[in-house]
Amino acid sequence: RKRIAVLTGGGDAPGLNAVIRAVTKAAILDHGWSVIGFRDGFEGVIHDRWVELTLDGVRGILPRGGTILGASNRCNPFSYAAPGDEAPRDYSSEVLRRVEQHGIDALVVIGGDGTLTVSHHLHTMGAPVVGVPKTIDNDVRGTEVTFGFDTAVNTVTDAIDKLHTTAESHHRVMIVEVMGRTTGWIALHSGLAGGGDVILIPEIPFKLDAIRATIRRRQALGRHFTIIVVAEGAKPEGGEAIYEKVGHLPYERRYGGIGEWLRRELAATITQEVRSVVLGHLQRGGSPTARDRVLGSVLGAAAVDLIAEGALGYMVGVSGDLAGQRPYSVVSVPLSEPSRGPRHVPVDHSAVRTAREIGISFGDVMPE
Ligand code: F6P
Repeated sequence: RKRIAVLTGGGDAPGLNAVIRAVTKAAILDHGWSVIGFRDGFEGVIHDRWVELTLDGVRGILPRGGTILGASNRCNPFSYAAPGDEAPRDYSSEVLRRVEQHGIDALVVIGGDGTLTVSHHLHTMGAPVVGVPKTIDNDVRGTEVTFGFDTAVNTVTDAIDKLHTTAESHHRVMIVEVMGRTTGWIALHSGLAGGGDVILIPEIPFKLDAIRATIRRRQALGRHFTIIVVAEGAKPEGGEAIYEKVGHLPYERRYGGIGEWLRRELAATITQEVRSVVLGHLQRGGSPTARDRVLGSVLGAAAVDLIAEGALGYMVGVSGDLAGQRPYSVVSVPLSEPSRGPRHVPVDHSAVRTAREIGISFGDVMPE
């Protein structure tokens, strides 16, 4: 009878509880194993904070956002400052010891590229790890979609719908800055779903002139408002991304991010009023969509399958299912895969091509 453990690392994403529930149920019901959950990611492993996960314990958590286990605020066990430590130090052997102490046969780590990279290193040291990719950004290499993304896109789409009515009433240019780190998946999909007029993503550097010309062209056509969806990591051609410049400093970014920069630049050079809004963590909160619940459940159960097959050192992922029209095809890829950098939007992605075909500007070419 195996004993397995689960933890949720990095920032939260809607659907985490669906994974925790599926891992717990599949392990108990399908295999008769026991399951524990470490609290607050690797921090909980280091400090031995955990709970036994039972069928009763995971009852009713499917619709809940966040994670019942707590998120770690990005604790990296290879460089972590515990309370009382003057400087960060390497706690990786502590993690291995803890896993052994609890007689854990496999540790299911649910995380983004940072957490999965850490897990890969722990696996090379002998930790029995299986990974489940998670992020609202949809940028983990090795899977074509991550849970949390669909919920975030729906939240942003709803916000764009709301911004439309006020932008139109006031004849304004409305800029909405969305998350996604150095990738444009959220901006692209929500911009398309929300009917944005301009979508700016890190993968396609923009020209201010092209954006201005698009706004003017719309005005000439009698459309006295423009909705610009900008990914937090977007950058002007030849320029640096503000997101990369300030790094992981969310609050500075919040008030001086690319959306606000763009507002200032445009407001100084066009006649229309310009406003900007940063959606921030609204995009990470709330109840997961049905799609994210299904994906989380599928991946959680698949992680248990991997353990049953003895395939440690792998992560589960999804292949070939961007449209969501056919059953998920679950794949397993080496845990080293996510450490090869973020999965960017290909500039010839079908959603980019569709957007261009229906007149959405990426700010890279002058409108005809
Ligand atoms: O990776 C998820 C994400 O929400 C990014 O989209 C965003 O840049 C970052 O995390 C925000 O981090 P924090 O929650 O630490 O402000």
